[in-house]
Amino acid sequence: MSLFRKKSLSHLLASAADSEKGLKRTLGATNLIALGIGAIIGAGLFVRTAAAAGQAAGPAVTISFIVAAVGCAFAGLCYAEFAAMIPIAGSAYAYSYVTMGELIAWIIGWALIMEYALGAATVSIAWSEYLNTLLGGRIPYEWSHSPFESFTDAAGTLHQGIVNAPALIILLLLTMLLIKGTQESAMVNAVIVFIKVAIVLVFIVIGWQFIDPANHTPYLIPEGTPAFKDQAGKVIADYSNTFKHGWGGVLGGAAIVFFAFIGFDAVSTAAQEAKNPARDMPIGILGSLAVCTVLYILFGHVLTGVSPWQDFVDPVKGREASVAYAVSAYMPGYEWLATAITVAILAGFSSVILVMLMGQSRIFYTMSNDGLIPKAFGELHPKFKTPYKANWILFIFVGLFAAFVPGHVAGDLTSFGTLFAFVLVSAGVWIMRVASPDIKRPFKTPLVPLVPILGVIVCTAMIFALDSTTLKVAFGWMAIGIVVYFLYSRKNSKLNQPGHTPGEILPNAKDFE
Ligand code: ALA
Repeated sequence: MSLFRKKSLSHLLASAADSEKGLKRTLGATNLIALGIGAIIGAGLFVRTAAAAGQAAGPAVTISFIVAAVGCAFAGLCYAEFAAMIPIAGSAYAYSYVTMGELIAWIIGWALIMEYALGAATVSIAWSEYLNTLLGGRIPYEWSHSPFESFTDAAGTLHQGIVNAPALIILLLLTMLLIKGTQESAMVNAVIVFIKVAIVLVFIVIGWQFIDPANHTPYLIPEGTPAFKDQAGKVIADYSNTFKHGWGGVLGGAAIVFFAFIGFDAVSTAAQEAKNPARDMPIGILGSLAVCTVLYILFGHVLTGVSPWQDFVDPVKGREASVAYAVSAYMPGYEWLATAITVAILAGFSSVILVMLMGQSRIFYTMSNDGLIPKAFGELHPKFKTPYKANWILFIFVGLFAAFVPGHVAGDLTSFGTLFAFVLVSAGVWIMRVASPDIKRPFKTPLVPLVPILGVIVCTAMIFALDSTTLKVAFGWMAIGIVVYFLYSRKNSKLNQPGHTPGEILPNAKDFE
């Protein structure tokens, strides 16, 4: 049997249409945009904007947002074509199964675990940090950090992390909500999205009056800016590297804020639960991306206008909880806003985690239905019709990372998994256009093959801009995936069962019209 055996699209669409057995179609266009915004606005905006400004781009973090958004838009257009054409759960994994065959599909499914599962872990770790900020630092360091982190306080006492308990608790609560139902989860998500978008707008509008033009001059970090050292003389930020100042710094900043855009693709994982996927998938994916891009640019403009970017590297100033810091330090009379922002951020992070967990469980569901992972991942709850076993297994997996791994490690691996998927989805659109030109495409990516090619180039470039340790761990993870494929998945694939006719992408294009 070929490693590149493909799933037949007619089979795929027929099984997705079997609503008696499958997931329920309950989501409309507004739900889908909310789902996208729910997954997008989170730690990337509230934590990484300041980090990118302080470490690489300065006030030009606004331009970094534009660069990252352009990269995402190429991939987003390709996702939209696929999600409208193949409206089933499973996203990039499912698309590659029909276009590039089983092995590539498996590899991408394995990479998506990095995006969604580790994405959820990363944001739950950020959630834990902000909860501690809200509680005035009352949670002991030991119980809110991984064993790989330590910290020496002012009295010289060493604190060693044990487990990140708050991160585990939020994961547990959201897992329970997801099992209860997609529609319930979508409703909670919609409320949270309203709160977080409102607070971003309030910050932009009020903060605008506190912009000091001096903070925006010069706009790029100048060459020759001295390294920033902490009180003990340790270098915290060094601006000599090409990607740490000037226009190079804008690109370096784009790689950092890329994380802020991750999630628009999560809309596509819910395609099987969309009422009218052909129309609503492109609206959900591209709409949420557009709304967030505009908000991000304005937010970056205000944040770096209110506070000098240098404050965002200083651990005793705005390095952590930077937005709340900027408000308290530079917007007198608006202390309430700092607290409101922290509460909104906590809610906002919850919705990111929720959508990430949901996306991952849907990918597991699809992979399990294909026989590539055990059956348990695909079993639906008898009453709630959600893949509850997948949700519980995922909780254990994500929980282990959240409890025991530092946030930045999980965060960079998330970016790798996402970019990898973007590359394959972009390539897949082009392949599918050539292989099956006649299939009905409710949404067409413009300028094919230019847009897919640019998607591949921009996302590959961002992959190689990640640090070398991340790349080593990520490739190690992918190697484990290949071993699992040959030991388990290849043998158990449904394509091995009699009655399946693999190899044919489109037996009859009319079937889908
Ligand atoms: N885009 C999501 C966030 O920023 C992953 O938290």
